[in-house]
Amino acid sequence: MNFGEIHNWLRETDEGRLEELWALADEVRRRNVGDEVHLRGLIEFSNHCVRRCAYCGLGAHNPNLKRYRMTAEEILACAHLACELGYGTIVLQSGQDSGISAQWFADVVTKIKKATPLAVTLGLGERNAEELALWQAAGADRYLLRFETSDPSLYERIHPDLNGVKSDRIAILHQLRDLGYEIGGGVMIGLPGQTYETLARDIDLFRQLRLDMIGCGPYIHNPRTPLAQADDELRAADDMQVPNDETTSCKVIALARISCPLANIPATTALATLDGQSGYELGLQRGANVIMPNITPAEYRALYEIYPAKAGVDQADDYHEFLKERIAAIGRMVGTGRGDSPGYISRTETSTCAT
Ligand code: 5AD
Repeated sequence: MNFGEIHNWLRETDEGRLEELWALADEVRRRNVGDEVHLRGLIEFSNHCVRRCAYCGLGAHNPNLKRYRMTAEEILACAHLACELGYGTIVLQSGQDSGISAQWFADVVTKIKKATPLAVTLGLGERNAEELALWQAAGADRYLLRFETSDPSLYERIHPDLNGVKSDRIAILHQLRDLGYEIGGGVMIGLPGQTYETLARDIDLFRQLRLDMIGCGPYIHNPRTPLAQADDELRAADDMQVPNDETTSCKVIALARISCPLANIPATTALATLDGQSGYELGLQRGANVIMPNITPAEYRALYEIYPAKAGVDQADDYHEFLKERIAAIGRMVGTGRGDSPGYISRTETSTCAT
């Protein structure tokens, strides 16, 4: 699907036509990644952050947030819980925490890889090349780093420099890929200043970057962020500004699936936050094939407050069973094994053959 077609779909309002988009995305999903829904155990292990991303509640600009950093033992216990629940992957996610030393974290990854068969996905923000290489050598399999927007001036507005160094996530995604990680990127939908044209370009970039994983969810207004104040000033004209609603979020999931048929695409927590009743189901029926249940210990979960009222914060202990029932109710099944992206598998197999 080319840029023009993506752009037209993003602006489509006719419900009958949109049904065609949902059906096409669902069919592409079924043919390329099957009916399995892979569950990734999400461990939000530190909410410290040195950055000031304008949209995020964890940023250093928020003095009202109680900060935590889990111990290696606590992280290991979560990894074991993920195994017990039958998950094939854990996602170790944190703010960009300068208090996490590269070696300490490499040791955590090594321990997890020794003790469990889990695939390990990382999301620790914009870390330097040596750190990323060290963690990959320790056994980390995948890395998530959303590029948030492909519009350079909007990107710069919402991602202030750190110590005079410009934020450049697209460059880091290239590094990650060269290091041999499976790479994940994505954007928020409905960010103030995001136009339909920009968003179409974002989706085109998913394909150009050959992302193995694509995470997209609606932007959720957070009053405790700099963007809450700059919202009006950044917003594009009404007929250009992308809304941060459920239908638009689903369009992006569907178009991401059609553009990158082999990628792993989650129905995100942000989508479930917007629509607690059926956000996950709609995502899964419009292109997604992954859910990332939060297995962070309850005492920390509420403190990972990227945005208010985040789904899963007050989930019950039997949430896992509830999720499995919801997946079965839409005729899908919980995935088994690591659930690597088929695109990544064929890429690494080809390179093995070539050498
Ligand atoms: N609304 C929605 N998503 C957000 N994220 C951060 N802040 C918000 C917000 N206010 C997303 C970003 C980031 C990911 C970890 O969470 O896309 O990359």
